Amino acid sequence: MNIVLFGLTGQVGSGLAHYLQDLGRITALNRADVDLADLSALERVIVEHRPDVIVNAAAYTAVDQAESDPAGAGLVNAQAPGVMARCAQRLGALLVHYSTDYVFSGASAQPYGEDSPVDPVNVYGRTKLEGEIAVARNTGNYLIFRTSWVYSHSGRNFFNTMLRLAGERDELQVVDDQHGTPTYADLIAAATARILSLIRDRRAEDYAGTYHMTCAGTTTWYEFARAILELTGHKSVRVIPILSSEYPTPARRPRYSTLDTAKLQQRFGVKLPDWRAGLNQCLVDANLVG
Ligand SMILES: NC(=O)c1ccc[n+]([C@@H]2O[C@H](COP(=O)([O-])OP(=O)(O)OC[C@H]3O[C@@H](n4cnc5c(N)ncnc54)[C@H](OP(=O)(O)O)[C@@H]3O)[C@@H](O)[C@H]2O)c1
Repeated sequence: MNIVLFGLTGQVGSGLAHYLQDLGRITALNRADVDLADLSALERVIVEHRPDVIVNAAAYTAVDQAESDPAGAGLVNAQAPGVMARCAQRLGALLVHYSTDYVFSGASAQPYGEDSPVDPVNVYGRTKLEGEIAVARNTGNYLIFRTSWVYSHSGRNFFNTMLRLAGERDELQVVDDQHGTPTYADLIAAATARILSLIRDRRAEDYAGTYHMTCAGTTTWYEFARAILELTGHKSVRVIPILSSEYPTPARRPRYSTLDTAKLQQRFGVKLPDWRAGLNQCLVDANLVG
């Protein structure tokens, strides 16, 4: 299997570079190799490598910044995946792409299914949805994995921000009215590799489509922060629950964005653990258990 991976430096991409090695020859690319905003360079690179599988873990993930840069977010999140899908179709390759819980509005009170109505409330979510549509419109051989609240022990994310702030302050205020599911990036990478090994000899019509791939359970950022600090021994740091309205951000966030992952389990027998177990694994991997 000849695999081209985009987003090598990202949370999920760096894990994929590790887990996909067992599946064949992997060319893992970063922004210096090709800027996804340069659509013709992107097409050239893909055609040059003639992959059997394109894995796109790259995205414009700066949710607040996207509000003032919709064109930039659109290029990377919507147009680049469209180019990848057209190349995949032309080359007979499979395209694996990631999307987000933020394609949903958050008005629901129960987990969103893959076919639940989409209605993003911010630019990031809208451009990611456009990316999903561009992928599905341009190739029949694709897997879209929607995930949520991705974190890792490396990189800039909520997990590392909480640990940094806990070292600097006695008290942290964290929003408690957004509900969703933190998902350890390494689990997404491992599950993707497992699914690719399962489908390697199957026909696209047996697996192609959109799947929800998150840890299990629902929590809030406040509860997640408390769990991170408790498990890393920062027990003296007070965590205060606040409302989103008390922490204004350029981008609105869904109030509730838990995803129903039953389809992933039914189709591939793959189920990610509960978010707390995922957090434990992250802490063990980072030698951070307090
Ligand atoms: N992070 C989350 O909470 C979250 C939630 C739901 C879904 N997702 C989705 O999950 C997938 C993986 O996310 P992640 O958290 O692993 O992302 P991440 O850690 O923010 O990494 C994003 C990657 O995309 C690359 N990238 C961004 N713009 C690029 C450009 N113009 N050209 C080339 N590369 C570019 C980055 O390169 P640089 O290092 O050079 O910037 C980085 O490697 C994405 O599809 C994301 O939308 C993420």
